[in-house]
Amino acid sequence: MPPPSIVDLPVKQRPHDTLGRPLHDLRISVMDRCNFRCPYCMPKETFHENYRFLKSTERLSFEEITRLTRLFVDLGVKKVRLTGGEPLLRSNVAELVGDLTAIEGVQDVALTTNGVLLAQHAVELKANGLHRITVSLDTIDPDIFRTMSGGMGEIERVLEGIEAAKEAGLAPIKLNSVIERGLNDHTALDLIERFRGTGVIVRFIEYMDVGNRNHWSLDRVVPSRELVERIGERWPLHPVQENYRGEVAERYAFDDGVGEVGFISSITNPFCGDCTRARLSSEGVFYTCLFARSGVDLRAPMRGGASDAELTELISNTWLQRGDRYSEVRSTLKNGEQPLRKIEMYYIGG
Ligand SMILES: C[S@@+](CC[C@H](N)C(=O)[O-])C[C@H]1O[C@@H](n2cnc3c(N)ncnc32)[C@H](O)[C@@H]1O
Ligand code: SF4
Repeated sequence: MPPPSIVDLPVKQRPHDTLGRPLHDLRISVMDRCNFRCPYCMPKETFHENYRFLKSTERLSFEEITRLTRLFVDLGVKKVRLTGGEPLLRSNVAELVGDLTAIEGVQDVALTTNGVLLAQHAVELKANGLHRITVSLDTIDPDIFRTMSGGMGEIERVLEGIEAAKEAGLAPIKLNSVIERGLNDHTALDLIERFRGTGVIVRFIEYMDVGNRNHWSLDRVVPSRELVERIGERWPLHPVQENYRGEVAERYAFDDGVGEVGFISSITNPFCGDCTRARLSSEGVFYTCLFARSGVDLRAPMRGGASDAELTELISNTWLQRGDRYSEVRSTLKNGEQPLRKIEMYYIGG
């Protein structure tokens, strides 16, 4: 009798990496382009008008993304997040949401967006089954916002997008706010003031050394601990139990019962030990870490006629060999020392 294919494996035999971490989440970059040029992600000196982005034929089609997602789900993935670049720049992305939510075993489909195009798409995204949305918003100061979007964004559009998402029933909406010392850290409390009690959950992200082009330095990182103290002086807070193992944000609730705030501390409190995330780039390269230096091309074998079983084996073997724990290793690097070239975030998906 032939051996069972990997797709038939029972849950407990699904691949765990060399550190015992199962495959549980898949982040898919559906678009390498973006309509912003946030200096911490796609600085405009590098991503200028002559920059060569992918051609549309180089990007995975919706059929290809759906097929690969199905195979990842067979190996244990339950949560899928669409990201980029800016995912709402990808034509008809709501159709893809519909295709992914229809896959048996997918429990949660989410999307991360800069929000500028959200007002146009919120109703359709909800109608096609999107479960959750995260909007990135670093400040509510219009001038700082313009600087932090590379001069390309109007905060009013993002606020309209958030309202439209609420009206479409996409609540609770999470806001991702990257905090950079000397740039927007003094506006963090204003962001809370604006959204506290509205059902929108603000999450502060420590500025990360993703990619190689954002001139990252440790002294521009505001440790979450410092923000917790600053916020707590104004609105007393207490920590809240995580919703599930491996939740990326540490949650704090306001003592007065008016909502909560989250902190994502990849720099000062790395969470590699619980990281169960796989990443798929817009052109179909599979990465096992946000800070990866290389990945495994799934597009070439797929377009070359590989069967589901062959692709599944490739994904599974890659996961079985995974030993990434970059954020934990970072702290052991000498001052200012950077590892070799990493993949850019716009490409791999945040
Ligand atoms: C790469 S973006 C892609 C999705 C969409 N364009 C957006 O901005 O929400 C995903 C998330 O990564 C975050 N991000 C990008 N560069 C970062 C950095 N250097 N440090 C921390 N977070 C970063 C963004 O703020 C955003 O919340
Ligand atoms: S963080 Fe998002 S909006 Fe900003 S440049 Fe990167 S991909 Fe674009």
